[in-house]
Amino acid sequence: MINVFPRESASTWLGLIETTPSLVFDPEICRRQWNELSSALPRVTLYYAVKSNPYPGLLQTVANEGGCFDVASAAEIKMLEHEGIHASRMIHTHPIKTDTEIEKAVAAGVNTFVVDNVDELWKLIPYRHSIRVMLRLSFIAPDAPIDLSRKFGAPQQDALSILDVANDSGIRVDGLCFHVGSQAATANTHADALGVCLDLCEQIRDEGLPEILRIDIGGGFPAHYTGESVNLDAFCHPIREVLKRVPEHLEILAEPGRVISAPSMALVCRVVGRAKRRDGWWFYLDDGVYGAQSGRLFDGMQYRMSVFTSSDELSPCVFAGPTCDSIDELGRYPEFPILNMNDVIVFHEMGAYSLASATQFNGIAPPAVVTRALPELRQGYGHLV
Ligand SMILES: Cc1ncc(COP(=O)(O)O)c(C=O)c1O
Repeated sequence: MINVFPRESASTWLGLIETTPSLVFDPEICRRQWNELSSALPRVTLYYAVKSNPYPGLLQTVANEGGCFDVASAAEIKMLEHEGIHASRMIHTHPIKTDTEIEKAVAAGVNTFVVDNVDELWKLIPYRHSIRVMLRLSFIAPDAPIDLSRKFGAPQQDALSILDVANDSGIRVDGLCFHVGSQAATANTHADALGVCLDLCEQIRDEGLPEILRIDIGGGFPAHYTGESVNLDAFCHPIREVLKRVPEHLEILAEPGRVISAPSMALVCRVVGRAKRRDGWWFYLDDGVYGAQSGRLFDGMQYRMSVFTSSDELSPCVFAGPTCDSIDELGRYPEFPILNMNDVIVFHEMGAYSLASATQFNGIAPPAVVTRALPELRQGYGHLV
């Protein structure tokens, strides 16, 4: 969705930042998302997925709400420690880790790890007296555009045999976990997978294997990329229905990333070059897919845009990022105002998997980040392209 606003009103955004491109982080939105999801998932302990956005201000905001953290590496543990967050509030959920990574995480005090195969279990043997392990199973949500169960997750039918090996090796696997895929349209697969895990807990007990004490339902909670707010309470309803079956002693965890980070940041860019070419006007912005917009390539994302320009002449146009690579293209539009140099573009819901995967390609630095309240965009102020 694209809204066009008069050029002068860009000052509302430019007044917040020192330079473009900049990401603007709004702690209030982060808090609102955290609290909405917490209320929608009573009795579920939320572990924020640091990989979705490790900006220190965001980590602090989640920590101040009493949140816990899901980490994938020793570097993420260090970032959290730097913010004064203790390892007792972290779980390490990467299913494949080097020995060095495990050693560093254990040394830092992290005591929960994830495996999805027997070879990964062997790596944990040296630490078996001090750690707890969760077995990741594969459940794929057909309505989640970003798959996370092709690369990771044991097939459900392999669960008992992996748990048998763990038991024989003296490794305490007392948890089950899954990730149904990112940006799920419904929580139906979360709910079904939780139900399957509850049934599996009974089979595990019947087999005489150590009891499962926690189930981690992963991430996948959606952000509102279209600007329409997602009702997290309604989204989580199917999960709450299955939660009614969960026995008292069983702890339930979740690892939300995108739903917390995406709405918390907007990206302010500028037109730094333009050229009329065979296929229309090309507008070159100061951020692209090698910067904060890699989600366009990795996740097929299209971000909501506000364009600030005094132009009203329309033409076919192409948006591109600042690098010399032609893959660094951001979108083609059959009719778009012919922008001028320094016109401002704001991309919304830009906090997830943006800063976290931004590169220095071509020597171009990722966007700066500032903490400010995001301006309210008044309805009906511009027009829709
Ligand atoms: C293990 C794990 N947990 C949590 C997340 C966060 O997922 P989402 O951003 O969809 O909430 C991811 C995303 O890649 C992940 O790999």
